Amino acid sequence: MQVHNTCRHRGSQLCQESEGRLKARLITCPYHAWSYSLRGDLVRVPSKSLPDGFDKADHPLYRVALSVWRGFVFVNLAEDAAGSAQSSFDPASGDLGNWPLDTLVSGHVLRKVMNCNWKIFWENFNECLHCPGVHKDLSRLVPIYGRGLMSRHDDPEWTRHADNDAPEFSGGLRAGAETWSRDGQTHGPVFPGLTQAERIAGQTYATSLPSMFMVGHVDYVRTVRLVPLGPEQTELTAEWLFAPEALAATDIDNIVAFGTQVLEEDAAICEVNQKGLRSMRHTAGVLMPEEYELHGFHNWVRERHTGLSL
Ligand code: FES
Ligand SMILES: [Fe+2]
Repeated sequence: MQVHNTCRHRGSQLCQESEGRLKARLITCPYHAWSYSLRGDLVRVPSKSLPDGFDKADHPLYRVALSVWRGFVFVNLAEDAAGSAQSSFDPASGDLGNWPLDTLVSGHVLRKVMNCNWKIFWENFNECLHCPGVHKDLSRLVPIYGRGLMSRHDDPEWTRHADNDAPEFSGGLRAGAETWSRDGQTHGPVFPGLTQAERIAGQTYATSLPSMFMVGHVDYVRTVRLVPLGPEQTELTAEWLFAPEALAATDIDNIVAFGTQVLEEDAAICEVNQKGLRSMRHTAGVLMPEEYELHGFHNWVRERHTGLSL
């Protein structure tokens, strides 16, 4: 059973532990002791009398849709959850179909509370104009990022370099580098199912707005999950996933340190962005052409609030 942790009486939290096993066969609210079965049905209301027409069957716990997708558990909090975990990925970003996601194991977890709204983080994720200034080491590893661009076609003059396969134009990793790590080297076997293009890309993103994205590298996968804690607070959980044999044999510090640095750099500048937005004069910014993905993101948010896009 998957349910919201919220009582149907006056909405108290039911369970205060974040993990563990229930000690009884009923879930009893700590406030006025309404009790629910493990299926979420309301079975006991201790009031001396009940309102006219009150039917316990009308007040089960709010159910949550859950699906298991290639080793990941996806929860959908919508009242009428439609679609599948697979369909939650942005088709433009892909779904890491050639990575053996369901066999990977966790090598490292980073949890961090960022003092910014969740949308600030996604805006940052959607552009690389900040890369030359904010991500010095990443810009050396992915030279096109050092030009403030995400891919070849972001350069208005890209046709002049259309035949140039140097990574500052094509978007791959610097010469000699294979993956995102401090030394640019892999630290375990390369996943066998990747295409040549996926191997030389250096990083392949799979985005599931608004709560997570994954990055596939040739020897590991990194997931980043976001949970808003408040208007100016977002919890970020990053996880590094490896093939079991790689994790047993590999020193992953070189890999973890690099990704951690990039995330810390992003988190720090997102907090600076959030502070600046507190100005009472600032109502809207202006997007540069390189920020076209932000426009898409803004439309995504707008559509969900108003049904309209621009
Ligand atoms: S809020 Fe749960 S029993 Fe009253
Ligand atoms: Fe960044």
